[in-house]
Amino acid sequence: MIMSKLIIEEGESLKGEIEASGAKNVALKTIVAGLLTDEKIVIENIPLISDLLTMKMTVEKFGGRVEIAGHKMTVTGSNLKNFPLSLEMAAQSRTSSMIIAPLLLRFGKATIPNPGGCRIGARPIDRHIEGLSKMGAKITYDASGYFHAQSKKLHGTVYTFPKNTHTGTETLILAAVLANGETVLENAAAEPEVDDLIGLLNQMGAKIKRVGPRTIKITGVKKLGGTTYKIMPDRNEVVTFAVAGIITGGDLIIKNAQSQHLLSFLEKLDKAGAGWEKVNENSLRFFYKGSLKPCDIVTSFHPGFMTDWQAPWTILMTQAAGKSTVHEAVFESRFGYVSELRKMGVKILFFQPKISCPEKFYNFNMEDKNDRHYQAILIEGPIKLHNAILNISDLRAGATLVLAALAAEGESVLYGAEHIDRGYERFEERLKKLGAKIKRANS
Ligand code: EPZ
Repeated sequence: MIMSKLIIEEGESLKGEIEASGAKNVALKTIVAGLLTDEKIVIENIPLISDLLTMKMTVEKFGGRVEIAGHKMTVTGSNLKNFPLSLEMAAQSRTSSMIIAPLLLRFGKATIPNPGGCRIGARPIDRHIEGLSKMGAKITYDASGYFHAQSKKLHGTVYTFPKNTHTGTETLILAAVLANGETVLENAAAEPEVDDLIGLLNQMGAKIKRVGPRTIKITGVKKLGGTTYKIMPDRNEVVTFAVAGIITGGDLIIKNAQSQHLLSFLEKLDKAGAGWEKVNENSLRFFYKGSLKPCDIVTSFHPGFMTDWQAPWTILMTQAAGKSTVHEAVFESRFGYVSELRKMGVKILFFQPKISCPEKFYNFNMEDKNDRHYQAILIEGPIKLHNAILNISDLRAGATLVLAALAAEGESVLYGAEHIDRGYERFEERLKKLGAKIKRANS
């Protein structure tokens, strides 16, 4: 990725119309789904983002074919080969560890690294591994941090996730669609992106049914075929652009925004006194309608307030008159952007809320939590943000710092813009069309 920076001048109010791209967290998984059949699948409405290109490269190293033309992608898994997924590839894209499902189904064995990187620390796919073991995979873990899985033929099972896992649910669905017999996943993720993947798989001939809010039943079939499928829009993009419109005192219409997937966000907007309205089934309008009120949010899995929305939300709360809190309950450390925000004059304090049963309350595994990280921040507003030289560390935080710079006085420079390209297509170009004074330069 070419290192680049964004130069952002004091924001005008953003006004106009913007279209949300296809959902990154569906597009990535459709490539894995395509490896389950020898026929071509065509995916429409894909976002042109670097995470997708990374996944394309990884799958092509395994012999898969992924062709992208415009916003359409064709995946062919007929020529898939089997060898270990390297630590480097897995580190570039955590989703690549989902390839364990097609490898096991096609070859009866797979070797993938623990994407958490640590040898005994964060085990971010223990729930995936446990579920696959219940489906008959024999999985060992070696001292170099690799999982070695073997299975003659995966068979159905009843597996209850100990805690929510979005990609864990998807990995087990991908394994179960061609397994022998019936699989029932209990306490399975309810994110709409999971249902979009289910929609694709069922069009390919799978038999998957959500028989309860968090129960999914999969009846294994002999083979899957090709199909053409259009993926849903990206909810994270909608929230990012919505906050951009409100925080700059603007007025935006976002097309491909489905209110039923954003209820917890819209509810909080109402509490904060920010303006929004449904334009039609597929478009929402977001606008500034007066001073913002402070709010408290706790992130959760769907249908709760998404963890991916907490960083943009924090920026919004810097403009609210009073004290707001953000309690991150999904990931053990997701406030990397706070130190950068402080450079813009934001008053943020970390604190650890008292929780009666943290093991149940938090979605991460408590053994992965290191005490250094607090799980909550307190924001005191309203604060007039001023410009700064900022470093972008990750995808969602990056977009957040752009929002802050748009609302700040003076000219800001953000290094690490390539992190934003992982999840947002042509981000600065689309913001410019709405009136943002933003340009990119090589850093
Ligand atoms: C997916 O991550 C998304 N990524 C994330 O979006 C999103 O934030 C997250 O779901 C929550 O909605 C993709 O879909 C590619 P989890 P995922 O498994 O599936 C722990 C973005 O920016 N855990 O639901 O990896 C885990 O460490 C990304 O688009 C285990 O400990 O999330 C985390 O703390 C960021 N063991 C928590 O649970 C497991 O086996 C939730 O993880 C599985 C998860």
